[in-house]
Amino acid sequence: MKNIQPIGIFDSGIGGLTVANAITKHLPNEEIIYFGDTAHLPYGDKSVDAIRYYCITITKFLLEKGCKMIVIACNSASSAASEVLIDFFKGQTIFVNVVDPLVEAVVGQQYDKVGVIATKATINTGIYQRKLLEKQPGLTVASMATPLLVPMIEEGYFENKISRAIIEDYLGRSDFDNMEALLLACTHYPLIRPEIKAFLGEDVRIFDSIDVVADQVRTLLTQYKLLNDKRRKPHQFYVSDYTRSFEETTRIFYEESIDLDHCAIWV
Ligand code: DGL
Repeated sequence: MKNIQPIGIFDSGIGGLTVANAITKHLPNEEIIYFGDTAHLPYGDKSVDAIRYYCITITKFLLEKGCKMIVIACNSASSAASEVLIDFFKGQTIFVNVVDPLVEAVVGQQYDKVGVIATKATINTGIYQRKLLEKQPGLTVASMATPLLVPMIEEGYFENKISRAIIEDYLGRSDFDNMEALLLACTHYPLIRPEIKAFLGEDVRIFDSIDVVADQVRTLLTQYKLLNDKRRKPHQFYVSDYTRSFEETTRIFYEESIDLDHCAIWV
């Protein structure tokens, strides 16, 4: 692999653009190729087998584009498919998932009780519970699927009475009583971090995977001597199903305005 090769980043849709945004900010010399599988959004309601199949197909596409590293910028995909991808594509690229950096960031803090909110697919795998307890036995983990949040965010519903009511309903449940930290285990959720903070107040620390994943990308590229010295080409953004409204929504997730290319990898 060569340092000038791009970094592939994928998600079920455009939520992973929050991660892409952090990576392009932290590592401005890197070229990225983003793939949003909008034809199959949301992954949160899909079976593990379906998610694995989508992830393998997307990885083949990104490898054909010459990606030196692939960031699985979706918790549902990281939970269901990370190990399968590492096994299936052994030696062909470096994979980064969004679960491990988040777990690492939290266990260092020695909390007694943390909360995890995510899609149904992520919560059903039990991955956060398992990984957190492996690193910190005795930690109390309150996990909850919060399936209304992704469609709400995709529709641009922030900072209004509906989003506040949904957040309050989920986070106000007694499961989360006395938690010291909350993990936003979905790459869409950083967009409603201010509203979650407003509800939880100062006593609960909020963690998301954005900056910790960008840090992990830098660490691994440095370790493998694959950091690019200069970006030579523009970033590329693909979706598996295109609508104009998606393109407009990308601005909520990615600070610059971007052009989405439609790429039908499923036919
Ligand atoms: N961004 C995805 C994740 O992190 C959630 C969206 C979906 O359900 O497809 O889990």
